[in-house]
Amino acid sequence: MVKIACIGAGYVGGPTMAMIAYKCPDIRVTVLDISSSRIAAWNSNNLPIYEPGLMEIVEQVRGKNLFFSDQVDQGIQEADIIFVAVNTPTKKLGLGAGRAADLTFWELAARRIASVATTPKIVVEKSTVPIKTAEAISSVLHAAGKTSFSVLSNPEFLAEGTAITDLTMPDRVLIGGTMDEKGIKAAQALASVYAHWVPRERILTTNVWSSELSKLVANSFLAQRVSSINAVSAICEKSGADVDEVARAVGMDSRIGPKFLKASVGFGGSCFQKDILNLVYLCESMGLADVAEYFHWVVKMNDLQKQKFVERIIHGLFNTVTSKKIALLGFAFKKDTGDTRESAAIEICRRLIEEKAQIAIYDPKVEHEQIWSDLSSVCPVELVEIQKLVTICSSALEACSNAHAIAVATEWDEFKMIDFEKVYETMSKPSFIFDGRNVLDHAALRKIGFVVYAIGKPL
Ligand code: NAD
Ligand code: UGA
Repeated sequence: MVKIACIGAGYVGGPTMAMIAYKCPDIRVTVLDISSSRIAAWNSNNLPIYEPGLMEIVEQVRGKNLFFSDQVDQGIQEADIIFVAVNTPTKKLGLGAGRAADLTFWELAARRIASVATTPKIVVEKSTVPIKTAEAISSVLHAAGKTSFSVLSNPEFLAEGTAITDLTMPDRVLIGGTMDEKGIKAAQALASVYAHWVPRERILTTNVWSSELSKLVANSFLAQRVSSINAVSAICEKSGADVDEVARAVGMDSRIGPKFLKASVGFGGSCFQKDILNLVYLCESMGLADVAEYFHWVVKMNDLQKQKFVERIIHGLFNTVTSKKIALLGFAFKKDTGDTRESAAIEICRRLIEEKAQIAIYDPKVEHEQIWSDLSSVCPVELVEIQKLVTICSSALEACSNAHAIAVATEWDEFKMIDFEKVYETMSKPSFIFDGRNVLDHAALRKIGFVVYAIGKPL
């Protein structure tokens, strides 16, 4: 039986390994993490991440050929193929701070493999990393000299909220390897794992650098589309055009395509900004300042989009939000996830707290502790001070009742079902709605009496 281990039981490691175990009953998969509490959660009925369809898959294979363990060394020793799916956040301090990827966790994992492995291993770079990381990791592994290693790049393209569908039917699986006999054999071994369910023509092999770079480029292109449509939303607001109509008309061109053209309050998530900044840093290091600047604007546009949304709320509420109750619907960076990393909601709250607004937050999936931790990390005051201004509610109705304004930050489907007539009765007049996701029925809301501001829409 082939044995796979994955170091890192996060949003990528957990679902990806669950899918491999589910589709490959002949493979034993062990997901490893230094965080014992995370492993305990994976072994419980309350998984550490919310992802539609994940629990159903985990329940079918956990304890059969899928295992979660904090015994990292043992897991490494037993495995033939080791995925590394640890976090690679943006560096906070030191050389490249604010842009370069922090590879500390990656290197620690690689050094752990080097120090405990006694049999040949295929090491698979699953985390998103800068180009040339596989080469560096290869040096670390081979310097240990105890056994032989092949290092492959196999970036992950799943999106949160749709991870199970994305893993079931990936557009492609990308495997980058060295072009020598050992590298080709390793790539074939990994390809044969995916071939249990992914059609062969969707399994793409390239050299290592192309694979590493493709991941950064894919995220940059996706984010670029969002920033482009958000830039267009600003033109729409000034001109009377409707951004959804423009997106539809433009996206029907088969060369452009309809996806990722939804104007919003700004993209969030743990990866878009991090990966673009990583690409920007790489370009700068290679002396490509103009290319770096080109991609950097994708992030700058996104920052502006978040700022504009908050300023619109403040201007709309007659230039003061002090002591006014604002209901914030949604805190996750997108629907169908409880993940808040880089969520636009955090920046919206930070600004509204600065203005001393009273904020009532409701999100169906985000843990309250996560919200407090996110707000503490961006507000330069004690948590008790934040808690004088912010309350976390257990329903949208509770958040909206008696508010001056409602701001939608996440496109949760349940927000479309809110009884806005009932909400309107309780609210201060004039009652405002700022739809940062264009998910509500604006005509119906105006009929009730709301003043509605939406992204890229005529007033
Ligand atoms: P995450 O923070 O959810 O999970 C990472 C896990 O690795 C954590 O549980 C942490 O405890 C563990 N870890 C860190 N160092 C370790 C070590 N030395 N040994 C054992 N465990 C260790 O991160 P994530 O969102 O799963 O992202 C992982 C990587 O995948 C990142 O590089 C990210 O860019 C990339 N990626 C993420 C997504 C996504 O949707 N989140 C999609 C594609 C790619
Ligand atoms: C994204 C990519 O889609 C994945 O392919 C990639 O694997 C992943 O990053 C990663 O590397 O981590 P994810 O961030 O989970 O996935 O979610 P997306 O659906 O891409 O959304 C990202 C952000 O853009 C969200 O805040 C979303 O609301 C926003 N968005 C997306 C828009 O504002 N408009 C759109 O049209 C699409």
